[in-house]
Amino acid sequence: MKSPIKVAVTGAAGQIGYALLPRIASGAMFGPDQPVILQLLEVPVEKVMKALEGVAMELDDCAFPLLQGIVLTDDPKVGFGDANWSLLVGAKPRGPGMERADLLKDNGKIFTAQGKIIDEVGAENARVAVVGNPANTNCMIAASKARRLTPDRFTAMVRLDQNRARTQLAKKAGVQTTDVKDIFIFGNHSPTMFPAFGLATISGKPVVEVINDDAWLQGPFCETVGKRGAAIIAARGASSAASAASSLVDHVRDLTTVGAVHSVAVKSNGLYGFDPEVWAGLPVKTTGHGEYEVLTGLELDAFAKSKIEATNKELSDERAMVADMLG
Ligand code: NAD
Ligand code: LMR
Repeated sequence: MKSPIKVAVTGAAGQIGYALLPRIASGAMFGPDQPVILQLLEVPVEKVMKALEGVAMELDDCAFPLLQGIVLTDDPKVGFGDANWSLLVGAKPRGPGMERADLLKDNGKIFTAQGKIIDEVGAENARVAVVGNPANTNCMIAASKARRLTPDRFTAMVRLDQNRARTQLAKKAGVQTTDVKDIFIFGNHSPTMFPAFGLATISGKPVVEVINDDAWLQGPFCETVGKRGAAIIAARGASSAASAASSLVDHVRDLTTVGAVHSVAVKSNGLYGFDPEVWAGLPVKTTGHGEYEVLTGLELDAFAKSKIEATNKELSDERAMVADMLG
């Protein structure tokens, strides 16, 4: 039996937390032979901590063989202490009529504090996945506070967008989602994101040939994927939770599966014309446990380049808005 890894989850009493924790404890994230200790972090509010106790009771009641311990805390130093992975979910969700960037000022503060503490107390191989919105910019803020952990340790989730895009393409073509490959998200987790359909294939053939409808691909397809979060809020009265949790499982599982090719928001370092300092969704290939390299040299047409320019501008603008929180 492997020794257990420590997985810190913030916002563990929230909606996403509720859908996420049983998946981690069951082995869906780190594999069926990897025991885990869950370090669940919440805010110091009696009602919330009580709810967190209830979540832990339910985890106990599942009798997951891989779950070797549960820590409940409102102290970030305990929550992130020696954590191998820190999953930063805890933050305000947006409501109807809001954009994710409207959350920046409130949520940004959470990530300044957490980036610093993870850097101080996380495990030597600590890795971070940010879900709380606006995820790309929050991730950049957290990474900017680190002195020990290098920027590549900090990733943000655009996997939900990749999964959404994959399903929309499969439905349009009348195939299974597994027939759709290499659909990557470039840029921000926001309506400006670009699902790069020109690189994707369906049953081994280019999507543009199989679907053969540029107007749909450039218009309704991009729009549906970009605005899916708002559509769910309008329908459910609350932001996506089950699909967000499931996508975080995919994000971390693929970052720990050598050879996996998938979309992750990482420090762009200027690739594909992005501002070098922003965290942009990019296609990556996993090269080790949590290690990856960005796929370079992929061919993008003029439409793709114009979409990337727009999403890059939004990321740069968000960076300017939080300049006082960086470093
Ligand atoms: P929620 O309100 O149900 O739960 C959030 C939880 O975080 C609450 O229990 C709250 O007490 C806790 N929290 C707040 N500040 C914290 C802190 N400093 N430390 C620890 N815990 C803290 O919200 P939710 O639906 O679970 O969504 C969480 C976040 O995820 C939101 O910002 C939402 O917009 C975002 N989200 C992102 C994606 C994505 O694809 N990146 C998808 C869905 C939701
Ligand atoms: C989503 O994409 O569903 C989440 O980011 C929640 C939101 O605010 O849209």
